[in-house]
Amino acid sequence: MISAISQRQVFNVNDLNLWYGNNQALKNIQFDVNENEVTAIIGPSGCGKSTFIKTLNLMIQMVPNVKMSGEILFDGKNILSNKVDLVELRKNVGMVFQKGNPFPQSIYDNVTYGPKIHGTKKKGVLDEIVEKSLKDVALWDEVKDRLNAPALGLSGGQQQRLCIARALATKPEVLLMDEPTSALDPISTMKIEELVLELKEKYTIVMVTHNMQQASRVSDKTAFFLMGELVEMDNTEKIFSNPEDKRTEDYVTGRFG
Ligand SMILES: Nc1ncnc2c1ncn2[C@@H]1O[C@H](COP(=O)(O)OP(=O)(O)OP(=O)(O)O)[C@@H](O)[C@H]1O
Ligand SMILES: [Mg+2]
Repeated sequence: MISAISQRQVFNVNDLNLWYGNNQALKNIQFDVNENEVTAIIGPSGCGKSTFIKTLNLMIQMVPNVKMSGEILFDGKNILSNKVDLVELRKNVGMVFQKGNPFPQSIYDNVTYGPKIHGTKKKGVLDEIVEKSLKDVALWDEVKDRLNAPALGLSGGQQQRLCIARALATKPEVLLMDEPTSALDPISTMKIEELVLELKEKYTIVMVTHNMQQASRVSDKTAFFLMGELVEMDNTEKIFSNPEDKRTEDYVTGRFG
């Protein structure tokens, strides 16, 4: 076992508070993310999972009247300070949503969208990015003969994998996923789960899920949120077998939530 290697931390969230107007949605969150791990976020509806994951690339700032305090260190730099380049941050911290939301363009144009914004123009380079990103999400063989066909003609599961490919095309360090399989059938879900396990070799993943089996299958760490608080965060195995907090135990054993 090579377990003594100390893992680099990609995010350190310290004492994060967040308000929508006067309503506090996150309270004193302390949350670290290790490189090349999958961190799952679980908890009942309305507990702040989506709010929290959207703070990690500051997508949350698109919501009016949001106020935050505390610190979010990404690679050691506080992204809540004024000097953050949002375009650069979102290139490094990609996001995938609940329902695949490809742009109404071709498969090819969906994948090259981000790289083009960041200045890549050469067709050869773009072609390579398309092939590599689609191979990374195990979609290449299914679509290589129709790259110019509309993305909206793909199945739901394929659309979701395309959206992951689109996020990967800018070579992010971190991939945020908010319930990426909740709109998918079991087979597409399984494909995404297998993909997540492969992707963590190269990327760091933070994933919200309502599916506890999914959390235990794919994640290294699990964080349990309740009413805006992070109740407990630990190795996934521990959270599901022997959590410290009674509330975590009640939730993972299905006694409430
Ligand atoms: N744009 C918004 N404006 C005001 N309040 C909001 C906004 N978005 C979320 N909230 C509130 O913040 C709290 C947390 O919501 P959030 O969407 O983060 O929960 P969640 O854990 O992702 O829930 P679900 O499992 O249903 O997706 C809720 O009380 C919600 O009503
Ligand atoms: Mg949510």
